Amino acid sequence: MSSAVVQHEKHPAFIVQTEEPFNGNPPLDFLCQEFVTSTDLFFSRNHGNIPLIDPAHYRLSVSGMVRTPLVLTLDELRERFPRVELMATLQCAGNRRDELIEVAPIPGELPWGAGAISNAVWSGVRLRDVLIAAGIERRARHAAFVGLDDVTRLGKTFGFGGSIPVEKAFLPETLLAYEMNGHPLTPVHGHPLRVIVPGYIGARSVKWLREIRLQTEPSDNYFQQRAYKLFPPHVRPETVRWEEGIMLGENTLNAVISYPAAGDELPAGETTVLGYSIGDGHNVVQTVELSIDGGKTWQTADFLTGRQDVWTWVLWQAQIRLTPGTVEIIARAKDSAGNSQPRDAQDIWNFKGYANNAWHRVSVQVHE
Ligand code: MTE
Repeated sequence: MSSAVVQHEKHPAFIVQTEEPFNGNPPLDFLCQEFVTSTDLFFSRNHGNIPLIDPAHYRLSVSGMVRTPLVLTLDELRERFPRVELMATLQCAGNRRDELIEVAPIPGELPWGAGAISNAVWSGVRLRDVLIAAGIERRARHAAFVGLDDVTRLGKTFGFGGSIPVEKAFLPETLLAYEMNGHPLTPVHGHPLRVIVPGYIGARSVKWLREIRLQTEPSDNYFQQRAYKLFPPHVRPETVRWEEGIMLGENTLNAVISYPAAGDELPAGETTVLGYSIGDGHNVVQTVELSIDGGKTWQTADFLTGRQDVWTWVLWQAQIRLTPGTVEIIARAKDSAGNSQPRDAQDIWNFKGYANNAWHRVSVQVHE
C-alpha cells in the first residue's frame, strides 16, 4: 500500500466538503441530471486516508466461523466466482443532516446537504458465493467487514468496519464489487474491492475491503458500535449510553427537491420541479407528491425513469403553478407498502444527525 497523494479524479463542479479526509458531493442540479451518476460526480464519504493498493499484492481474507478460511487474490475472485452486475443507489446516513442542524446544533459531524447520495452500476461477485466457498458455520449470525484505510478514533488507529446480518450477506444483491460504471473502482470509491450492500446505509458498503469475518455478534468496530447508531431526540452526547442506540442498517424512504433551490427567485406561473426519491430497500417508491399549501393538498409527480426496483432511486418531475410571494414547496414519497415520511425534522432529530427523511421543504421567492 502506498501513501502517495491521491488524485481524486472528480468533476470540476464536485463540491469538496473536506480535503482530509476526502468528502464531497455533486451539486444537486448535476446529480439529478443523470439516472446513473458518473463516477466523477458520485459523492464520496471517507473517515480516514484513501489507501492506494497495488491489485497484484491485494489479498482478501475470509475468516471466523467458516470451515475453510480463504485468502483470495483479485484474480482468484474473478476466476472462481461468476461475475454479476447490478445497479444500486448508495446513500450516506448523514444525507440531509444540514436540515437537522437547523433544528439544533450537531457539532463534530459534516453538514451534508441532500447530495450525499448517488447511483451506479456495480460489477463483481456475489458475497454469498464467496461465503458458500468458505462454508459458513450455522452459529454465524453476522458478516463483519474491515477496510485497509487508517481511521483514528478514541486514541486508536484501525480500519473502518461494519457488519450486516448473514441473511443480508446471503441475498443475491449483496456484492463484492471490483468495478463501478464499467471501469475498475477508483481509489476514492474503494479500489480494488469493496462491499456493496444495496438498500442499506452507505456505511455498510466497506471500501478497500481487507477482511470478512463471520461471527455471532455485530462488528465491534467503532463505526458499528458508536457511529451510525440512532438515538431518540432527547439523548445528548453527555448522556448517551452507546449500547442503547439502534445500529443503522436499512435505508429510510426519502424524497428530495433538487430544483429549484432554497432562496431561488422565480417568475410567477408554471415551473418544473425536479428531484429524486429512494425507497427503504424493501419496497419500491410508489408516488412522490408535492404541496405548495403547507401539506393541505398534494399533486403527484411523474417518474422520469422507467426502471424501478428496490435498490435504485427514482428521478421525478412535476409542473407546479406559482403565485407571487414566498412559496414553500414540499415533497414527500409513499412506497408500495403505504409507508410515508415524517412531517417534521424536529421529530426525528438525533445528536449524530442520521437518517433525516422528513418532508423536504424548499422556500422560493416568486415575483410577477
Ligand atoms: N469504507 C471504508 N473503508 N472507509 C470509509 O470511510 N465510508 C463509508 C462507506 N465505506 C467508508 C467506507 C460511508 S459512511 C459511505 S456513505 C460510503 O462508503 C461512501 O462510499 P463512496 O465514497 O464510494 O460514495
